[in-house]
Amino acid sequence: MSDVIPVIAIDGPSASGKGTVAGIVAGKLGFHYLDSGALYRLTAYAAQQQDVSWDDEAGLEPVARALDVQFKEGEIWLAGAAVGDAIRSEEAGRGASRVAVWPRVRDALLQRQRDFRRSPGLVADGRDMASVVFPDAQLKIFLTATAEARAERRYKQLIEKGMGANIHTLLQDLRERDARDAARPVAPLKPTEDAILLDTTDMTIDQAVRFVLDRFVV
Ligand code: DC
Repeated sequence: MSDVIPVIAIDGPSASGKGTVAGIVAGKLGFHYLDSGALYRLTAYAAQQQDVSWDDEAGLEPVARALDVQFKEGEIWLAGAAVGDAIRSEEAGRGASRVAVWPRVRDALLQRQRDFRRSPGLVADGRDMASVVFPDAQLKIFLTATAEARAERRYKQLIEKGMGANIHTLLQDLRERDARDAARPVAPLKPTEDAILLDTTDMTIDQAVRFVLDRFVV
């Protein structure tokens, strides 16, 4: 076995289920897990708390660089306080997508993401895990589902959490975010040539997890 720490990169659009699949795969392999979207969500959230506009690239960069974040005990902590579902709302997702267009914000979060690569391995989910953050990943998966299926999944998730939701607004929001994430000049949402496509529209979570595990050869 080589001494390179293995990485499984799972990229894909909003609410595709990549976070759920990535988390389970990491658990089964005993690997670390990076939810890179959380870092963009936290940047948008911290910016809001500090009155920095999501359009202000120069103002956002130090916010992203100074994020005092810890991932522990299945919770995310920002400056010592548990963040809970505050970054899981649709507004936080929209904010994340807006701050994520800025190259200086992306650069500020780059090394922080690479630092998650620790033995025995890492499963990382996001938009540019395969293209920018871990271009040498051993396995690259591009996980999608139709916008309708994703809106429905997100709807169920929000209702389960007791958060309000409207399926039509969700679908429109998802389409807007997909368009923004795919159209930005830096690290756009798009499969790399060496990525394996996984369409989960008609798949269960278990089937998607199995698909990824079956393709991972150390
Ligand atoms: O995966 P998510 O829905 O939590 O991500 C929220 C937003 O963050 C997404 O719309 C775009 C941005 N993002 C990104 O640009 N690059 C990543 N690697 C992860 C997320």
